[in-house]
Amino acid sequence: MKFVVLPNAAAIGLAVGDVICDLVRKKSDTVLGLATGASPLPTYQRMIDRCKTGEVSFKDVRTFNLDEYCDLPETHPCSYHYFMRKELFDQVGILPEHTHFLDGNTVDEGAESQRYSALIEQNGGIDLQLLGIGRNGHIGFNEPSENFTQESFKVALTDSTIAANSRYFRDIPMPKCAMTMGIGLILRARKIILIATGSEKATAIKAMLEGSVTPRCPASALQKHPEVAVFLDPAAAALLNEN
Ligand code: F6R
Repeated sequence: MKFVVLPNAAAIGLAVGDVICDLVRKKSDTVLGLATGASPLPTYQRMIDRCKTGEVSFKDVRTFNLDEYCDLPETHPCSYHYFMRKELFDQVGILPEHTHFLDGNTVDEGAESQRYSALIEQNGGIDLQLLGIGRNGHIGFNEPSENFTQESFKVALTDSTIAANSRYFRDIPMPKCAMTMGIGLILRARKIILIATGSEKATAIKAMLEGSVTPRCPASALQKHPEVAVFLDPAAAALLNEN
């Protein structure tokens, strides 16, 4: 797996935002797999800035998000639907009908998982999947476990993830479950970019890049993918042998 260390989150945002914009300029109907959380925000800002100058249009782009909380209305400010509209979609004019999410409120997770995989397939597959990484090595909400998952599924969030994300939930308790794309589905993307910044990600980054491939560190599955680029700041890269 290829990795690059840049000085800070802002520099990573410029670099990754430019990769995405250049891809969209070449293929206007690019299919993007998108993440929420803090890591992709500078990237989204770069996409917004280049869209505003007219250098790139996201009119024909299609998007598939990695995950969504269960038992939370889509309109709630803590939902990932809301996050994406606010942080990217509404600012770059991606058509709502081109944006896709797992339904965290589904009553039939098997049917929902099949629907999502089929929809990705019908759209020609994901050209570029953007990922962050959890402190525990999760990607999407694939928490450390005994098996790599394949398609989308409902997951019980771990204490580590709840501790990391509960700061966003001020007036309601954080949901304990989410629907997430599985590892197999993530690995079907043609290209993958993972972003990690900050010292709290350093242990997970070391396990992902230098450890064995194990579902105890879900991100280690990326070692099996031929086209992964990892963008790190010095703190996230601090424990790497080659750094
Ligand atoms: C978000 C997601 C998660 C985050 C990860 C890192 O859609 O799938 O895997 O990417 O928890 O979150 P941040 O970037 O907030 O540190």
